[in-house]
Parts: sequence; C-alpha cells; structure tokens
Amino acid sequence: MSDSGIQYKRILLKLSGEALLGKKEFGIDQQVLHSIAEELREIHSLGVEVAIVIGGGNIFRGVAGERLGINRARADYMGMLATLINALALQDTLEKKGVPVRTMSALEIIEIAETYVREKALRHLEKGRMLILACGTGNPFFTTDTASTLRALELQAEILMKATKVDGIYERDPIQDPTAKKFEEITYDEVLQRNLKVMDATAFSLAKDNGLPILIFNILNYGNIKKAVLGEKIGTIVRL
Ligand code: GTP
Repeated sequence: MSDSGIQYKRILLKLSGEALLGKKEFGIDQQVLHSIAEELREIHSLGVEVAIVIGGGNIFRGVAGERLGINRARADYMGMLATLINALALQDTLEKKGVPVRTMSALEIIEIAETYVREKALRHLEKGRMLILACGTGNPFFTTDTASTLRALELQAEILMKATKVDGIYERDPIQDPTAKKFEEITYDEVLQRNLKVMDATAFSLAKDNGLPILIFNILNYGNIKKAVLGEKIGTIVRL
C-alpha cells in the first residue's frame, strides 16, 4: 500500500451505461455524470491509474435491437456507438474538472477518438491520463464485461472493478429473499458451483483463467469508488 493509502496502482473500472441513467429511463442524467466524474477526479488525485470501459445500455442495447428485428451483429455495432456517446460525455465532464483524460475507441473513428492501441493506452496511463475505452472489443457478440476483462488483462490492471446497481454478490436473489447473505469474498470455482451471475460466461472464464480479481460493488452509493481503491471492504471480491 502506498503513502496515500491506495490499495491499487492501476484499476480497470467497468461502468455500465445504466449507471448513467440515474432516475431517467433513457440517456444520461447530468447529476449522476457529475457525481461519478467527481469520484473519478478524487481517485485520480490519489495517484491511481484508471482505465474505464463504458457501456451503452442507457442509449442502445444490441439484444434490444435484435428484438426490433435488426440483425444481431448490426445491432451490436449500434450498441458500440452508444458506448462512444457515453465516453465523450464522460470525457467532457472529467476535462471540465481538470482531469487529463483520453478516449480510445476499439473501432476506428479517428475524427472522434483515438483508436485503441495497447501500447498507446499504456503510455497514456503512465503519463497520468485517465483512459476511457469505448466501443467494447470492437466485435459484435462480445459484451462490455468481456471488453473490460480483456482490457484489464492487456493493460495489466490489478483488479477489475465492476460498478453495478447492487451491493455485491448474494447467495440468493436478495429481492426475492431478504435473508440472503452477501459474500465479502468468493472464489471463481464457488461462483460457478453456485451458478451465481457475476458476468457473462465469456468474460468470467477469461478472468478466471488469468486470475484477474473482480470486485462487484454498488456505484449508486457515493464514495464507493474511493473506498474500493483504498481497499475498504465494500461489495464482493471474486478471486482464486
Ligand atoms: P503524447 O502521448 O505525449 O505524445 O501526447 P498527446 O497524446 O497529447 O499527443 P497527440 O498528438 O497524440 O494528441 C494530441 C491530441 O489529439 C489529444 O487530445 C488526443 O486525444 C488527440 N488525438 C490523437 N490522436 C487522435 C486521433 O486519432 N483521433 C482523434 N479524434 N484525436 C486524436
């Protein structure tokens, strides 16, 4: 642990599009955007290197597109564009708070954002720039959870922090069973044995095979991102 008390030097934060919804049904809630950006500014000032994979579900989801009769691969590309919209909104908000930040896109859209190149991404992090990674893996049929795991491994993040709307992983659905116990820590094998839903199977097996720790925590509680980087016991951590 460093002088500033940080537990992790480099993290990958997965921010779902839904996290930006706030109380809205569609799009971006300005207050939520500012509050998340403020938390990010704080952890950046502690010296944590932060890469963020952002989702797009608040704007468009590939699966929903398929229900509209749109070809799944094409609908997934629409979803990737949605992540880019969120990325630009977050970049702008962070810049207004004085945080140096770069957006990199997995799809080549060079007028709007730099294209993701691992070595360049690493340089940005080393130079103290926050990194927002848009357009998932750049491939249809892969979720932003898979993109997060892949980028966390590529960029050698010590942990994947998955920001969600729940407090962590419970033994049973806490809405259906309020007595259900929350795990503070759980192994990959136990997640599989108990058939707990943490991430989709592709993302989860990639994390498991590479021993990447995953922290599941609630983004709606202000201060949780900072607590997470300080190593306070919030949410549930999945590891070997
Ligand atoms: P170094 O990484 O230290 O060389 O500095 P830098 O990143 O500031 O230099 P660079 O010339 O790469 O970038 C200058 C500005 O242009 C930054 O705001 C980048 O985000 C932006 N930029 C760089 N490459 C691209 C690109 O391909 N597309 C878009 N839209 N912006 C880019």
